[in-house]
Amino acid sequence: MVRCMSSVLRELPAIARGDELASASKIVFERAEVRRGSRQLLSIPALRLDAQRIGVIGDNGSGKSTMLRLINGLLLPSSGRIVVAGLDTARHRKELPAQVGFVFQNPDHQLIFPTVGEEIAFGLTERGMPARQARNQALTLLEQHGCTGWVDRNVNELSGGQKQLVCILAVLATEPSILLMDEPFSSLDLPTRLVLSRKIMRLPQQIVMASHDLDLLAQFDRVIWLDAGCIREDGSPADVLPAYREHAAMAAEADLATV
Ligand SMILES: Nc1ncnc2c1ncn2[C@@H]1O[C@H](COP(=O)(O)OP(=O)(O)OP(=O)(O)O)[C@@H](O)[C@H]1O
Ligand SMILES: [Mg+2]
Repeated sequence: MVRCMSSVLRELPAIARGDELASASKIVFERAEVRRGSRQLLSIPALRLDAQRIGVIGDNGSGKSTMLRLINGLLLPSSGRIVVAGLDTARHRKELPAQVGFVFQNPDHQLIFPTVGEEIAFGLTERGMPARQARNQALTLLEQHGCTGWVDRNVNELSGGQKQLVCILAVLATEPSILLMDEPFSSLDLPTRLVLSRKIMRLPQQIVMASHDLDLLAQFDRVIWLDAGCIREDGSPADVLPAYREHAAMAAEADLATV
């Protein structure tokens, strides 16, 4: 198991080799900090993410969404930099969406079109696919996921879980080389969650997923535990998940003792 500071020391010599290494790695954080006024929301001195499936865990407010938003360039660091697929997020914001797909924690922050079909087709037409072909692809994807007849449905009339599924399908449709998912399954029913989890485990892309679903993350290659905006543990799921479960149990016990 790797503690916050030893992870920093281990990574620093590699980071010192500069841009060449940064572009060879998929996602690199270099002395990245996010501050709001005097509050520090996130601090990641040095981190390189090469593993294919990376889970991000931590209590509410620990910085998971902030970390993912830094990777897709929605949020820029107050200091330091983040390099994704060789692109500095501060200098290449426009190019990032072609590389990085993002499933938002709240579907209402992601859905921008009135109908399901338009929402899914948009990413495809943006990448140059003719509109008719994009709509057909949306139809096929919906049918494959048990959503026959959804293509012209108004997204505002979907349930929370249905909206979440549309968001995931819209991002999967574009086949980005890096897939960021912020608690993507929180509202999904069990059958849908199982199907999508299996599908995601088979995808060839790099995936970074913030989640409280520790059973799913047990199958990932690497798990990062954020605590108050800092990396507390970083390692294999077999090491990090039991440590986090123990922390949660102790926190719950301490809370209950005060009730
Ligand atoms: N726009 C903002 N302005 C100020 N503080 C913010 C802003 N967005 C997030 N924060 C703060 O940053 C910290 C990290 O928030 P973040 O949303 O990254 O947490 P999280 O780990 O994703 O939590 P959750 O599990 O609840 O989704 C929190 O303390 C939050 O209050
Ligand atoms: Mg969050």
